[in-house]
Amino acid sequence: MNYLEILKFRHACKIFDESKKISAGEFDFILEAGRLSPSSTGLEQWDFLVVQNKELREKIKAVSWNQAQITSCSHLVVILAKIKEIKVGSSYVDKMIARRADKEPEMIAARQKFYHDFLLSNFKNDDELTFQWSHEQCMIAATNMMNAAASLGIDSCPIEGFDRHA
Ligand SMILES: Cc1cc2nc3c(=O)[nH]c(=O)nc-3n(C[C@H](O)[C@H](O)[C@H](O)COP(=O)(O)O)c2cc1C
Repeated sequence: MNYLEILKFRHACKIFDESKKISAGEFDFILEAGRLSPSSTGLEQWDFLVVQNKELREKIKAVSWNQAQITSCSHLVVILAKIKEIKVGSSYVDKMIARRADKEPEMIAARQKFYHDFLLSNFKNDDELTFQWSHEQCMIAATNMMNAAASLGIDSCPIEGFDRHA
């Protein structure tokens, strides 16, 4: 499939064929598409939680408008938007800065100052503002994973119909 054909193939699937399972290789490919996604300032503000346990899926379904896809899908990926890690002075932010190519102490210090000022002025160490920003990045990863699945002829469904406070 060319890219346009992939986008045309992808749709929000309501009824999965439960007799079909995604292979380990295919699933690795899909997760890798998520992992390689761009994120604002490269903080990769997501965790991908793969939920295969039946009882756990039933509990998630109960707080997800009882949507059938939660239990009928071959693989359920819950995307967690990072909040506490994206606060000023967090060790996660320092770790992500340390991954960068420039290793001179003054470059690292300059980057730390940039992140400090950027995070504080935009998100004010506020959970909701930080969540909204991380959530935007998670959507990019989700899109890449859905399109990667489509490129393999695998259906998917994004689910935002859940009670976030449950
Ligand atoms: C952020 C987001 C959340 C969504 N949440 C749900 C959902 O909870 N349940 C569902 O069946 N579809 C959900 N959808 C799918 C949309 O309803 C669907 O993408 C839209 O109607 C267009 O249809 P298509 O994706 O088949 O082209 C969601 C889509 C997005 C982008």
